[in-house]
Amino acid sequence: MNNAWPTFFGRFTGDEELYSILYTEWIEYQVVCFDPSKNKPLGYGFVVPIHYDGNLDKLPDGWNNAILQALDDYSSKKNPTALNGMAIIVDPDAQKQGISLEIIKKITDICRQHNFHSFIVNVRPILKHQYPLIPLEKYAHWTIPTGEPFDPWIRTHVRAGGEIAHVSSDAVVIKGTIDQWQTWTGLSFQDSGEYIVKGALVPITIDLENNIGIYREPNIWIIHTINPNSTSS
Ligand SMILES: CC(C)(COP(=O)(O)OP(=O)(O)OC[C@H]1O[C@@H](n2cnc3c(N)ncnc32)[C@H](O)[C@@H]1OP(=O)(O)O)[C@@H](O)C(=O)NCCC(=O)NCCS
Repeated sequence: MNNAWPTFFGRFTGDEELYSILYTEWIEYQVVCFDPSKNKPLGYGFVVPIHYDGNLDKLPDGWNNAILQALDDYSSKKNPTALNGMAIIVDPDAQKQGISLEIIKKITDICRQHNFHSFIVNVRPILKHQYPLIPLEKYAHWTIPTGEPFDPWIRTHVRAGGEIAHVSSDAVVIKGTIDQWQTWTGLSFQDSGEYIVKGALVPITIDLENNIGIYREPNIWIIHTINPNSTSS
């Protein structure tokens, strides 16, 4: 389902080897929505168990830091108290059918079964790329006439019981040379500065002198509190 992401996400600097534990030690927490009639998966919910005590200031900043904290908690035998969403992905052919809401509900069910404090997610708002110049701090609180969040993905989490917390400013960081960015985006970068790139939630920064382009993607924390008393280690 790699086509579910912008093309340059293939260059996400996260270390994929770190993620193998999701399919071994932490398999019981992962969610797959499978269509037996087509014999194929329609969606996934990838999560990692972490120790979270309900203090918003202690949330890991970004996907890579979440997996690092989860691994650290695991090796130091800290009891997990939350599931941290790494990615919820629905096959493009199966989108807009409510599958993601079912995946979120299943993850919160798993949290309940384990008596976890919460399901916490660093959400990548799906329509933010259309408003790359608006700060996420403001965009996250845009609404539709019903009063629900404007962004459908934030809205889905809020409908499932999630609460919007703060912005995680470096949720995904992608660095590359100017040549790499030109290949990844099909654009020409002939001056240093900020550029709007297809699929990016904020502009990328191009620095010709140092031959580097950097994308720092903000995401928004959403907290699904399941059992506020379950925070012991
Ligand atoms: C975000 C994603 C998981 C949503 O999955 P989904 O199963 O299609 O979502 P749902 O069918 O439950 O729809 C939830 C809402 O989002 C809307 N929606 C879904 N995809 C949309 C799209 N591409 N554009 C606009 N709205 C969309 C639905 O219409 C619905 O809105 P509603 O509140 O008006 O009913 C899916 O689009 C996806 O996999 N995207 C790529 C990966 C990604 O960005 N994941 C999230 C970051 S971890």
